[in-house]
Parts: sequence; structure tokens; C-alpha cells
Amino acid sequence: MEEFDKVGVVGLGTMGAGIAEVFARAGFQVWGVEVDGSAMERGRDHVRRSLSKAVDKGKLGSEERSGILDRLAFTTDREDLRDADFVVEAVPERMDFKRDVFTDLDSICPPGTILATNTSSLSVTEIAALTGRPDKVVGLHFFNPAPVMKLTEVVSTISSSQTTVDIATEVAKRIGKTPVAVTDRAGFAANALLVPFINDAISVYERRIASREEIDTAVTKDADLPMGPLTLADLVGVDVCLAVMDVLWEEFRTPRYAAAPLLRRMVAAGRLGRKTGRGFYDYSGAPEPAEE
Ligand code: 3HC
Repeated sequence: MEEFDKVGVVGLGTMGAGIAEVFARAGFQVWGVEVDGSAMERGRDHVRRSLSKAVDKGKLGSEERSGILDRLAFTTDREDLRDADFVVEAVPERMDFKRDVFTDLDSICPPGTILATNTSSLSVTEIAALTGRPDKVVGLHFFNPAPVMKLTEVVSTISSSQTTVDIATEVAKRIGKTPVAVTDRAGFAANALLVPFINDAISVYERRIASREEIDTAVTKDADLPMGPLTLADLVGVDVCLAVMDVLWEEFRTPRYAAAPLLRRMVAAGRLGRKTGRGFYDYSGAPEPAEE
């Protein structure tokens, strides 16, 4: 693999900040890009807090932390990626946002730069077609929390070149992840299995078969998973779960992929999980209202 000097991460929300941290920990020079100063500061704080937690737990030396922070630069100017070798986009899951980022990156970055998207619910092929280099666009799908989860899906499209896919796979290995090769179909592999499972759990909850705690306990104890499906929905984002269900439905039109009505209502009500302070569970510290 050719040597990369500079990696860009566009979008520093939960996923983007985690991805930037993962690359910097692996020794890459990383530029994190956000749309404005306050979003950029939130991203920087997210990485700092995560590294400090690791230091407090004795998992990371304070010198090592300084080295990682030295390898991380933050900016609101995408032009700073004009000499980036590899860029990962992690902005919210809206095609208009992706279009804005990818058309910009395509004009800013050198022709050889590989542009990767962390999308979980949009078509990588469609994103690649926004650029003049669809052969150099690939999906690099991380899992939440990105610094912890080993799996990374490398999503190839009918337009991506084998060299691009090989480099992205090698990059995933270099940052300590376990890459899995998948093609660009709704949900790829992991979410096509995982999110309908979360959706089924929401249906069980909605039909009052069991309380949310009982559902989560049943699954964690039965399948020895670290988290129950409703807790997991809150972690990944209730809106992200709905977006994945909707693309699965759009693509395959089978009842198995019909979103649970409650999932849609939760999103309409803004109960998106941890990021809004409330999803299936409450994270705001406020007293829990009676379940409707
Ligand atoms: N950032 C960095 N590190 C974190 C972290 C975060 N956000 N959250 C937890 N960690 C670290 C902790 O520091 C700890 O590290 P240590 O072992 O070195 O001390 C380790 O992870 C374990 O954390 P905790 O002891 O605090 O808590 P748990 O043991 O309960 O683990 C968990 C938390 C790692 C989130 C675990 O519950 C888990 O693996 N849950 C399942 C997550 C999952 O399935 N994610 C995939 C979702 S699907 C997805 O993202 C795809 C999308 O497209 C929908």
C-alpha cells in the first residue's frame, strides 16, 4: 500500500470524532473538518474526553495521548484537505449533505485521493456518482462506538476499482479494524441483519409483550450480547434505525423490512436516543414519564 501522510475526516459527530481518534491512534496525521467553529469544538472535545478516559483507566499513557493529539488538527475549511491522501466522510445521513461534501472534496482533493463514506443507509454508488472519480469512492462503514467496535465494512460498488477497495481494506487493517467485504445493497451485511432485529424488538415492546427492560434483559442474557436491542437503538440513534429500515424496505419490499409504527413515531417525536437525551430510555436525568 502506498504511504499515506494525511487523512481527512469530514463531520465530527459521534461517529466522525470516533473515526478521527481511531486514525490518529494508529499513527496517521488527521484533519477533522466541521461546518462551523462550535461543531468543530464539540468534535475536538469528544476526542479529548475519550482519550482522557483512556488515560484515567490506565489504557493510554499521557505522552501517548499528547502524540495522538499532536497528530490531530481541526478546521472548518475543507480546502485544508487539498493534499489529503484518504478522506472519510461522516456527516449526517442526508443525500443533500453528502452531495455538498463530495462535490467539494472532488474539486479540492488531488485526483488520486480516495474518498470514503461512512454512510449506513445511503447508496455508496449514488454518492460515488456525485464525483468525477467514482472508481476512487468506497464505503468504509464503522460501528458505534467507533474506537471500540472492531468491525468495519468495506463497501464496493459497480464503479469502484479493485485497487481502491484493496487500499481501503488495508487502511481498515492498519487502524486495527477487522474489514469485511460487502457490496452496495441496502443495509450492506451487518445492518441488514442487525436493524430488523432491533425493529422486531420494538414491535414486541409496542405489542406490550414485555417491558423494554425485560426485552433487553432477555436478549442480553439469552444471546450473551453486551446490550439489548432497545438500548442499542438508543446508542446508534433511533433515526438511524428508521433510515436503515426504510432503505431496506425501498430496496426489497418485503414485510420483514417494514418499520415498526412505534419506530416511526419515536423519530417524529424527536426521541432519537442518547444524542437527544431520550429514546427508549431517558438519559436526561429527568423523572421518567409514564409509558404511553
Ligand atoms: N468511545 C470510546 N471508548 C468507549 C466508548 C466510546 N464511546 N464506549 C465505551 N468505550 C470503551 C470503554 O472505555 C471501555 O474500555 P476498556 O475496556 O478499555 O476500559 C470499553 O469500551 C467497555 O466500556 P464500558 O465498560 O463503559 O461499558 P460496556 O462494557 O458496557 O461496553 C459498549 C460498552 C462497548 C458500548 C458495549 O456495550 C457494546 O459493545 N455494545 C454493543 C455496541 C454495538 O453493537 N454497536 C454496533 C451498533 S450498529 C452500528 O453502529 C451501525 C450503524 O450503521 C447503525
